[in-house]
Amino acid sequence: MSSFLSRAALAASSIAVLILSPMNPVLAAEVVDTHSYANSAEVRTTHLVIDLDVDFAKRRLKGVTELQFEKLKPDADRIVLDTRALDVRSAEASADGKAWAATKFVLGANDAVLGQSLTVSLPTGATRVRIVYSTKPEATGLQWLKPAQTAGKKQPFLFSQSEAIHARSWLPLQDSPAVRATYEASVKTPKGLRAVMSAEMSDQPDAAGRWTFKMPQPIPSYLIALAVGDIAFQSMGPRTGVYAEPATLKAAAYEFAETETTLAVCEKLFGPYRWGRYDLMVLPPSFPFGGMENPRLTFVTPTVITGDRLLVSLIAHELAHSWSGNLVTNATWEDFWLNEGFTEYLTYRLTEAQFGKARGDMERIIGVASLKTDFALAKSDEDRKLVRAFPAKDPDEVFSSIPYERGALFLVWLESKFGRETFDRFLRSWFDDHAFQSATTPQFIAYLNDKLLKAQPGKVSAAQIDAWISQPALPADTVYATSDALTKVDAGRDAWLAGTTTLDAIGAEKWSVQEWEHFFEGFPKTATAAQLKALDTRFKLTGSPNAIIASDWYKLAIDSSQAAALTPQIEAYLGHVGRMKLISPIYRALAATEAGKAQAKAIYKKVGSGYHPIAQQTVERILKGS
Ligand code: BES
Ligand code: ZN
Repeated sequence: MSSFLSRAALAASSIAVLILSPMNPVLAAEVVDTHSYANSAEVRTTHLVIDLDVDFAKRRLKGVTELQFEKLKPDADRIVLDTRALDVRSAEASADGKAWAATKFVLGANDAVLGQSLTVSLPTGATRVRIVYSTKPEATGLQWLKPAQTAGKKQPFLFSQSEAIHARSWLPLQDSPAVRATYEASVKTPKGLRAVMSAEMSDQPDAAGRWTFKMPQPIPSYLIALAVGDIAFQSMGPRTGVYAEPATLKAAAYEFAETETTLAVCEKLFGPYRWGRYDLMVLPPSFPFGGMENPRLTFVTPTVITGDRLLVSLIAHELAHSWSGNLVTNATWEDFWLNEGFTEYLTYRLTEAQFGKARGDMERIIGVASLKTDFALAKSDEDRKLVRAFPAKDPDEVFSSIPYERGALFLVWLESKFGRETFDRFLRSWFDDHAFQSATTPQFIAYLNDKLLKAQPGKVSAAQIDAWISQPALPADTVYATSDALTKVDAGRDAWLAGTTTLDAIGAEKWSVQEWEHFFEGFPKTATAAQLKALDTRFKLTGSPNAIIASDWYKLAIDSSQAAALTPQIEAYLGHVGRMKLISPIYRALAATEAGKAQAKAIYKKVGSGYHPIAQQTVERILKGS
């Protein structure tokens, strides 16, 4: 607990100090990561050599991970790593990478959130250690899928999801975003299955049947990623392509064909893309997120493959992380908004540049709607701030759209104060000046002071910045987007609900998914059974192939107590999709009544084993009411 408090005091005091004297540098040593046991201020990993054998029958990876390091403290005699539920067999140390000798290791007590420290003794002269271990079936950073959970239904599938602190459940390492390392890896798969990772890769296994990988840029541990399955590849452009199960490949390549253009637009706005290729890996529907920005290889949910290319801002978002997050990384999970708020802002800019202002504004409004929802769901004012005064114990538990959308609104507000051209130059230099580094919020504020506030005094005050970052309420002068299209949706919905117009007259047959989202967002819970039935009959919402529209519709039906007849379809949906953003609102809506909660529990009992461990935890929290 004491380290939590000291980080809080440090954060509070450094923000204040930096606003007053922007030239004060924040020393890397000051960064306290309460979510890692690693002694990275003394011994810091620089390179990983990862060897894994994939065993689907036992649901485990058998591995050897070598960690090369530099000593920041020359007399350091141990390296401390993070692990969670790993079977550690042995540890060895070496001075030259050739001669290895067993060395002592100790696993610390288990913490439900942080896992166990692994302290490895360093003999004099050691420059590297290696750990022989295997993962457990319950590894929180892996999901093992049965063939039935895949598109092809014939082969099993495995994927990792390391962010925020789950890399440690499949790799023993210094699991802190303030530590960057390059990596190389080799992965042995069952015959006929391919492995892909967030790294350079070849399209054939080596002579020993191992898939090999190399990530030459230093990255934080949460960006190490692996997927194994019946995976095929299709090129989309010179630097872009898509990996997917063969059954999904064609639709995916069509849906995401604009990615090469998005990449060019992004470079024009924010500087060169520094990672070589940008490929997508489409996962089975149990993937718990929309997307994950694993470098060179974004992981993406298949629920955005709708045939109309309208949900590709998700790709823009993950691509934008190649600057905000992967290039300049939040130093701790309290600084998460530096990753996600920046990325959301960049995404809106990309959408606007590629598809026009009207579409960008629609997405901004939908973003603000999700912010309002999460403001209402937040358990305390602490969760409503951009940066909490004290760290949350579990980053997964406090995950919400607040760092995303509040962060983006903060940058929109800054843009409005300094003008787009100036602000773009500032952003670009923020990325360039911090490339391949981790950054804290106080560092950002210092940089902002130095580069913008001081250069143009009187435009923005320290108190205003502080309100954005450490006050719970949104500032009164927040800049919101407007959208003619969405205003029309509001008018149509409200007139139809009031009985002054017909469903045919509101133009919904031409609506984009964004317009539908907005339509549902503003729907009262008081609609009659007849109204909902008319809506469903006219637009075939039940069983909609569009997973976003289906989720919104089921939630509305439940909220309006009109879902009894839809139980089989809702159950089928919850048994097929595992993306938390789509299933959580349905579980939450069900859990709002006692009968609904019992029903939700029964459904979860049936389908929950198909969810990713993080999604299981999220749904269990909803059903427990915590
Ligand atoms: N990096 C996140 C996903 C993430 C965040 C995983 C925290 C684990 C912990 C990713 O870039 C993301 O934000 N995904 C969003 C996409 C959206 C905002 C377009 C998602 O999955 O919904
Ligand atoms: Zn993101």
